[in-house]
Amino acid sequence: MKSYAAGTAQDLVQSVQRVLIDERTLAQRIQTLGALISHDYEEKRPVLVGVLKGVVPFMADLLRAITIPVEVDFLAISRYRPGQKGQVRVLKDLDICIKGRHVLFVEDIVDTGLTLQYLLKLLRAREPASLEVCTLLNKTSRRLIDIPLKYVGFEVPDFYLIGYGLDYRERFRNLPMVGIAKAELIQPHRL
Ligand code: PRP
Repeated sequence: MKSYAAGTAQDLVQSVQRVLIDERTLAQRIQTLGALISHDYEEKRPVLVGVLKGVVPFMADLLRAITIPVEVDFLAISRYRPGQKGQVRVLKDLDICIKGRHVLFVEDIVDTGLTLQYLLKLLRAREPASLEVCTLLNKTSRRLIDIPLKYVGFEVPDFYLIGYGLDYRERFRNLPMVGIAKAELIQPHRL
């Protein structure tokens, strides 16, 4: 069996150098986003589409903050990184047919914008009635592709962020807040 450092609950929390967005602030903002979306999409029965895995906590909370009828679906893709050779692959496709539907693409974070560019192109080809983006976090300082974002939770600075879905090597997604990772945690492995 593969060995790994199991770690304790304290190790998890102590990996955060500073809390950037606490639980309460996240919850309040997500309620506001949910209310906005409920208003804008009334009688449109939107399909919320997320890309796994980082979006899971945000999608779960956003869904429950939306008060109108809504459907949800997920995509999974192979990693997409600047300079990466080869094609992105869809590992899990949508179950719902989005042709003629109002689609809201939901992201945990938009960083370079490359993932979003690829996925919006993929979704647009399926001829939805509308296609907009809702991201919890927006890291504009690293943007390579400018894409309009209809709903943004928070603008964030260029730090390595963990928690509330964001990982470092698959860890820390379960932290209830968004935090800045301690430098010694990520160096020298940063992306
Ligand atoms: C993260 C995030 C976005 C993407 C944004 O996913 O969920 O999908 O990166 O980065 P970009 O704007 O530079 O393309 P990641 O590839 O880390 O996978 P994960 O959701 O499984 O953590």
